[in-house]
Amino acid sequence: MTDSDSSTSMHVPVLPSEVIEGLDLAPGKTIIDGTFGGGGHARLIVPRISPGGMLIGMDRDPHAIHQYGAQWRDALPGPEIAGTPLPQIELINDSYHRIPQVLQERGLDGVDGILLDLGLSSDQLNDPARGFSYQTSGDLDLRFDPTSGEAARDLLLRLPEKEIADLIYQFGEERCSRRIARRIVERRKERRAVTTADELATLVRSCVPRSKNHRIDPATRTFQALRIAVNHELRIVKQALEDLPGCLRPGGRLAVISFHSLEDRIVKYAFREADDLEILTRKPLLASDRENAENPRARSAKLRVAVKKGGSQD
Ligand SMILES: C[S@@+](CC[C@H](N)C(=O)[O-])C[C@H]1O[C@@H](n2cnc3c(N)ncnc32)[C@H](O)[C@@H]1O
Repeated sequence: MTDSDSSTSMHVPVLPSEVIEGLDLAPGKTIIDGTFGGGGHARLIVPRISPGGMLIGMDRDPHAIHQYGAQWRDALPGPEIAGTPLPQIELINDSYHRIPQVLQERGLDGVDGILLDLGLSSDQLNDPARGFSYQTSGDLDLRFDPTSGEAARDLLLRLPEKEIADLIYQFGEERCSRRIARRIVERRKERRAVTTADELATLVRSCVPRSKNHRIDPATRTFQALRIAVNHELRIVKQALEDLPGCLRPGGRLAVISFHSLEDRIVKYAFREADDLEILTRKPLLASDRENAENPRARSAKLRVAVKKGGSQD
């Protein structure tokens, strides 16, 4: 059992009013929250699409759906309190790149809005068993879905030095990637392989000169790189953004929040290349100073919104 099993979600949704406005919510609409997490955005969506409407929440992490999702449902206002019938709600433990299949299986020809809030949730970060936080001695796992794929610790045991260095450089934009990879492989040879989050963080700090910006831990880029690699994050978001415009009804909205430049670049070009989308955010929307002060996660968040052509707004 992990810490997250016994607590309710601590995740505070980023850019809440911008997401609500971006999705153009209204009673009766069908919305997919492709990254349900702690249900923070979903909680804002539900009252705005009722009466009627339908919310499909998806997450690759079984905890998000089966643990937080169950508590989230219990905390929704009953129909008599809300005064209007709640929308139909379905929570699914699956990846958002499978939205086309999810729609097909339910006989839906399209939806009115899709939200992707990329990255990891505060609940995942705060769970020492997942290895996302480098201040803990948790197992270096880093998978969103711990039941499938390869944990980061196994990747570091298996890959040759050059591939570890390339991965840390490519997905973390870390200039000391070669030094870090050399040290990881040296430790393997010494039979002291890196298997926990704090071991990796200590190793990286010993290889990377401390930057002037002391707020950012030198281990951040390496953890980001490994997380992206084990979850195939960039490949999945790229594929999904090719397919998702086809899942929207005319006038439907696609809203994507990214947290680092590699992701944001993919979103920006995917929106530009989609012939059937009109971009509504020429520049990405950022959090206000007030939100940044209240929710430090919002500092790196960028929201881009597009609308499927052919709706009444055209
Ligand atoms: C930033 S959190 C979302 C938080 C949510 N918007 C809220 O307000 O509570 C990102 C979530 O996306 C999930 N995730 C990451 N990759 C995914 C994928 N390919 N498909 C579905 N969910 C994914 C993670 O497991 C995590 O729970």
